[in-house]
Amino acid sequence: IKKVAPTPATILITGETGTGKELLASLVHFGSPRAKGPFVKVNCAALHDNLLESELFGHERGAFTGAEKLRIGRFEQADKGTIFLDEIGDMSATTQAKVLRVLQEQEFERLGSSGKSVKVDVRVVTATNKDLREEVKEGKFRQDLYFRLNVVNLAIPPLRERLDDILPLTRFFLNKYAVDFKKKVTGFSPEAIEKIRRYAWPGNVRELQNSIERAVLLSDDEIIGPHNLTLEGRAEGDPVTSVDTMNLEELERGAIQRALRATRGVQKDAADLLGITPRVLNYKISEMKIDWKSFRA
Ligand SMILES: Nc1ncnc2c1ncn2[C@@H]1O[C@H](COP(=O)(O)OP(=O)(O)OP(=O)(O)O)[C@@H](O)[C@H]1O
Ligand SMILES: [Mg+2]
Repeated sequence: IKKVAPTPATILITGETGTGKELLASLVHFGSPRAKGPFVKVNCAALHDNLLESELFGHERGAFTGAEKLRIGRFEQADKGTIFLDEIGDMSATTQAKVLRVLQEQEFERLGSSGKSVKVDVRVVTATNKDLREEVKEGKFRQDLYFRLNVVNLAIPPLRERLDDILPLTRFFLNKYAVDFKKKVTGFSPEAIEKIRRYAWPGNVRELQNSIERAVLLSDDEIIGPHNLTLEGRAEGDPVTSVDTMNLEELERGAIQRALRATRGVQKDAADLLGITPRVLNYKISEMKIDWKSFRA
C-alpha cells in the first residue's frame, strides 16, 4: 500500500467477503496526495443500469421522467479525489462502457445532456469478490475495462491463510469492544485461543470482528472462554480432542468427524458407531458441509 497509494494508479482490490477491501480502498485514498480531496464510495451491486448510471454520472433536468432537477453524479463529486467503485463485477455492459470512457478520457456526459461533456480529475479504485478474469472469459465483463482497472491488483488473502494476522486482530477487537462496552475483559483462555486459531473464518475479518464483539458482550469473566465464542462450524478435519464446548451442533460435528476418522470415511460403519442410520448420517454430513472424503484411507 505504501508503494501504490501515493501514485495515481488505478487499483483493483480483490478478496473474499469481509477481507477488508473497503478498508484498504480508504487507506489507499488517505495515503495519497488526494487525501484532502473527496473519497466517494459507490456500491455498484446496489443499483441497476439507469439508476447506477444516473448515480455515477448525474443527469440534466428533464433527462427522464422524474428528473426534476439537475443532479451531480458521483464522478463529479469525486473531482480531485478518489472514487471507490465497490462490487464492480456486478456492473452492466452499458455502464461498463461509460466507465471505460471516463478512465480513458477523464470525461463523461451527464444523462440527458446533448453531447456536453464534463471533465473530471478522479482516481479510480475498484473492488470485487468475483474472479474478474473468469467474468471476462465468460463474456460478462469487458476485457478492455478489466485491463484498465487492473493496473495494480491488490489481492487480499482470506483470513484462514493469514494465520499470523488472526491473533493480533483478535486482540485489537478485544481491546476495542472492551472500551466500547466499558467491560473489564482482558484476554482469552488458551482453549478460546485454540478455537479461534483453528476456525476457518469463512466470513473473514468481519466474522472475526462480530464474534469478538459478541464474546465481549456475553462474557461474565475477565477472560473469554471458548463457550463465549459461537462459531459457525469447526475447521474441516480438526480433531475434537478437548470437548470444551456445550454447543450441541459442535459436539455433533465433532462426534461425526471422530466416527468418520475411526472408520476411514466409510459412512455405513460410521453410522453404526454413532447409532444412527446411514441416511441420517449422510443428511447431517451434507447439512454441516463435512468433507467426509478427507477421512478416506
Ligand atoms: N486489518 C483490519 N483491521 C481492523 N479491522 C479490519 C481489518 N480488515 C478488515 N477489518 C474490518 O472488517 C470489516 C469488513 O471489512 P470490509 O468492509 O473492508 O470488507 P470487504 O472486503 O469490503 O467485504 P465485502 O466484500 O463483504 O464488502 C470492517 O468492519 C473492517 O473495519
Ligand atoms: Mg465491501
